[in-house]
Amino acid sequence: MKLSIVILAAGKGTRMRSNLPKVMHSVAGRPMLAHVVNTARSLKPDTLIIVHGHGSDIVKAAIDGEDITWVEQAEQLGTGHAVAQVLPHIDDDSALLVLYGDVPLIQTQTLNELLRMSDESSIALLSCELADPDGYGRIVRNNSEQVIAIVEQKDASLQQLAIEEINSGIMVIPAHYFRSAYPRIGAANTQQEYYLTDIVELAVRDGLAVNASVTDDEDEILGVNDRIQLATVERYYQERAAWQLMTDGATLIDPSRIDIRGEVSVGYDVVIDVNVIFEGKVRLGDGVTIGSNCIIKNSNVNTNTNIDSHCVIEDAIVGENCNVGPYARLRPGTVLKDNAKIGNFVETKNAEIGVGSKVNHLSYIGDSVLGNNVNIGAGTITCNYDGANKHKTTIGDNAFIGSNTALVAPVKIGKGATIGAGSTINKDAPDDELTLTRAKQSTLRGWQRPKKNK
Ligand code: UD1
Ligand code: CA
Repeated sequence: MKLSIVILAAGKGTRMRSNLPKVMHSVAGRPMLAHVVNTARSLKPDTLIIVHGHGSDIVKAAIDGEDITWVEQAEQLGTGHAVAQVLPHIDDDSALLVLYGDVPLIQTQTLNELLRMSDESSIALLSCELADPDGYGRIVRNNSEQVIAIVEQKDASLQQLAIEEINSGIMVIPAHYFRSAYPRIGAANTQQEYYLTDIVELAVRDGLAVNASVTDDEDEILGVNDRIQLATVERYYQERAAWQLMTDGATLIDPSRIDIRGEVSVGYDVVIDVNVIFEGKVRLGDGVTIGSNCIIKNSNVNTNTNIDSHCVIEDAIVGENCNVGPYARLRPGTVLKDNAKIGNFVETKNAEIGVGSKVNHLSYIGDSVLGNNVNIGAGTITCNYDGANKHKTTIGDNAFIGSNTALVAPVKIGKGATIGAGSTINKDAPDDELTLTRAKQSTLRGWQRPKKNK
């Protein structure tokens, strides 16, 4: 059988109390729907369909890929009605896997197991036993424990409300069967909606087998209807991501105080202190240590480098044995070569800092290339912007820039050059010489401070 996956994402999500469509709310920095699409793709379906409705433009703009077929459900008349919209796009010989845009943590392995439980003449659904089944549809079984129906909370009898086995919503249905049975699904229920779940009772009557895969991993099937559930799902996600990092060889000082909003790979013996946020693709080499309260985005940090606390690093490559921070900001395009040192209150942008070079205090280095073993004194600023364009600063190997120097770009500082403290340099400085721009110091003997008027 072919595999067609349908992701339901048309609902508004009233309980989110938001102008953003529910499936666009983020878990780990990415829309919930994007997580579901990723998982769906891992199953390599023949067709991947997203049913959209509320906030279509926003939803479509956030999710890309030529493998996606977008199907509009203009009016949200229920989950069964939503699935019915995709019938023109699927073949009868396919298995129809229904996923929910608001159930973002579902895992590939669980879905593969579910798919193995279904064929042309059977339905497979994913259920779970919950101590608090409130809000979910309940799985109704007969005396021989066979699934015979799903009843929605709002339509359930008192007796049915006591059932702890709930419907995750995730289901595999033979497409040909859904096509033939859908016209028999009515909307005579409390919500006056066409329920997908009604297919179960019909299938039982038509002699199809209905198999329930009961998962014991309740976080995987958690649906997000409000912001409290969104926060709960976020924590589950983070817990799992933290476990993965520890499994891969990182020490997390507190696994509950780390946020991974992307993909982080770690070498051996990485140590990450508390309240660190990772975004995008981050690679940490062997022996890297990250101090508390850092934000690291789309960057590589290589072997044995130490990032001290309170650093913000984005689109940067940090070499081996470097020291960064505390309180440093490496902006996009920063490349630190091995053994470089960036100290407190230093900002770099589009800057290459050579091997063993030091920018230890209170500096801005932008659009610059520094050679090896350069020493940048405290308070040095590269004046890279003339109000209209950016210009480049080049500093040769072994140069020494005195404190509080303004390097007005475009400008070149030669190899081994020394710049006197407090200089404003707007012409190239030669190799191996002292260059400075400084008024001679003088003392006005007998000068008096002004006195306050009486
Ligand atoms: C649904 C199930 C319930 C299950 C629960 C699990 C039905 C009738 N009920 O209930 O048994 O326990 O999920 O989380 O299926 N959607 C559309 N179009 C619609 C209606 C919904 O695309 O017309 C989408 C929503 O955007 C959402 C998903 O389907 O992504 C689920 O809809 P929702 O209204 O949240 O269903 P529940 O009441 O939670
Ligand atoms: Ca729901």
